[in-house]
Amino acid sequence: MNGRATLIASALEARLRAHAPYSHFLVGAALEAADGRVFTGCNVESASYGLTICAERTALFKAISEGARGFARIAIAAESPSLTPPCGACRQVLRDHCAELEVILCNPRGESKVFQLSELFPHPFHDQMLS
Ligand code: THU
Repeated sequence: MNGRATLIASALEARLRAHAPYSHFLVGAALEAADGRVFTGCNVESASYGLTICAERTALFKAISEGARGFARIAIAAESPSLTPPCGACRQVLRDHCAELEVILCNPRGESKVFQLSELFPHPFHDQMLS
């Protein structure tokens, strides 16, 4: 298990790789898998704005495509007046892969706050409803 501080450092570093020429809003994420691997992601914007992908989903899709399953926590780094939580789409997709996930919000000013995904996304649509 990686420490929270390590995960925060990875998210802050990933944030600097964001491709955000339209919003100039840089976001980084670091997702820790159950096997201890850490997958980072940044937001990658498109000239066709709606095709933009958030940092959280970049990290998650990298992890899934590398064979990781089961996740312990994610750190999300951005710079805004208050800490930046994941958008609704990312909350759903994170919930698709982990019912219980620690979500650490952080910024370059050294502030951070920890939530559970279930607090941020309390009434999810999930796979059990499809059977
Ligand atoms: N963004 C993320 O990467 N994650 C979030 O949780 C919020 C929003 C990105 C998408 C877009 O590139 C920019 O931030 C502004 O919305």
